[in-house]
Amino acid sequence: MEGWPSDFVQIVAALVQNPYMGIVIVDKNGYVTVANDTYIHIVGKTRDEVIGKYIMDVTSNSQLPKILETGEVHIADYWPCNGHDLIVTRFPIYNKEGDLIGAVGKSLFLDLGDAKALAKKVADLEEELAFYRDAIKSVFSPKYCFDVIVGKSSKMARLKSMAEQVAQTGSTVLITGESGTGKELFAHSIHRSSPRAHYPFVRVNCAALPEHLLESELFGYEEGAFTGARKGGKPGKFELANKGTIFLDEIGDMPLPMQAKLLTVLQEREFERVGGTKPVRVDVRIIAATNCNLENLVEQGKFRADLYYRLNVVVLDIPPLRERLEDIPLLVQAILPRLNQRLNTNVTNVSSEAIQLLRKYHWPGNVRELENLLERAINLADLNNEKQLTAKHFPSLQKQNIENILIDKKGETLADAVEQLEKEMIRQVLKQTNYNKAQTAKLLGLHGSVLYRKLKKYNLG
Ligand SMILES: Nc1ncnc2c1ncn2[C@@H]1O[C@H](COP(=O)(O)OP(=O)(O)OP(=O)(O)O)[C@@H](O)[C@H]1O
Ligand SMILES: [Mg+2]
Repeated sequence: MEGWPSDFVQIVAALVQNPYMGIVIVDKNGYVTVANDTYIHIVGKTRDEVIGKYIMDVTSNSQLPKILETGEVHIADYWPCNGHDLIVTRFPIYNKEGDLIGAVGKSLFLDLGDAKALAKKVADLEEELAFYRDAIKSVFSPKYCFDVIVGKSSKMARLKSMAEQVAQTGSTVLITGESGTGKELFAHSIHRSSPRAHYPFVRVNCAALPEHLLESELFGYEEGAFTGARKGGKPGKFELANKGTIFLDEIGDMPLPMQAKLLTVLQEREFERVGGTKPVRVDVRIIAATNCNLENLVEQGKFRADLYYRLNVVVLDIPPLRERLEDIPLLVQAILPRLNQRLNTNVTNVSSEAIQLLRKYHWPGNVRELENLLERAINLADLNNEKQLTAKHFPSLQKQNIENILIDKKGETLADAVEQLEKEMIRQVLKQTNYNKAQTAKLLGLHGSVLYRKLKKYNLG
């Protein structure tokens, strides 16, 4: 620019650098004096092809010569250039004598280049996410959630309706019950029918990990937290469960020092990664489960009382199967098709005698044990091409029945137990012989009159 000291041109050149706006200054003859990198990028040339060159040679649709000619000011003029959409403001420059000495063009990106591509990518991802959320929603549609939990006994019905209600709140839930009663099933169902259903359900088995691993598993670690720590660190289960539910399974087995850390998270909803310094905030719902009696553990000093009270907000105590034997036919009905599908078998019926047998057992392993026994029975039946399960397909139960009597009668005298056994044997043989007393006496090796006496005693006649 005529009369501009070269240092001044440099200063102006530095001043006009701006990643979002292309700026060009021409002298009164239309030669480029200053152009910032963004402008050079817009016109798609090199610096040497722009600086000192006539503006129409730089970009053939430039409006700057018109400004030099007319002294007009153009504000927010739409200007497509080199595939970009731009909004341009142009104005003339005058010296203090009022002579026109040049013109400036400032172009604002409408498309913002990479930002636009990025915005499109985000929009595409959001669309994809919405699609998958819908897909997940249809798979885990809430109305099916509690339906997978079979049970019409009053205990189960009450428990299910309580779980359905509590699912809607964000309350901490403690699920207790013997092994195999369905604690995990309940935890899943609560999450799936809660407002958090579209966010993660993350299970942590507190019993499976040694203490030092449990901490980084739960809270994650920063890069370099310990030898072997992964580059970039690793998020813990609490972070992964953000906005969703964390399921702390077997919480009764959590080591005491970890219990203290967990308590802090429950209180503050905030924690630090292992080796980290800044707190991480999370929004998670907590469901814990155990087959231990936590109150006893508290008394024994193995479980922190304060943590117990924190967890003990809503308690779902799942009754053992032996306390809801009336659910057995329904459970069998629900489990059989699942097993047939998995085993590729077609055993669809269960005799009423077999159901009676199942209803007499005391089920220490609860529903999981029922599933296992049914699987074994299906295999036995399938070997003989039988479509129906009968008592003979449950050999362990027939033996177990006697054990049951003994277990049920634990603490009673030997004479009591022997009587129970005697009664049960007579009852079974009677049934076997279709209540033929002579045959029963013969099979049991008893004299007829002895049998009659016993039938009377046990009220079996
Ligand atoms: N009410 C029920 N209806 C249908 N299936 C059930 C029911 N309860 C349990 N099950 C099935 O029994 C098995 C054991 O259930 P689950 O794993 O939830 O038990 P759990 O209480 O967590 O046991 P553990 O304490 O041993 O971990 C699973 O296959 C589950 O699907
Ligand atoms: Mg479990």
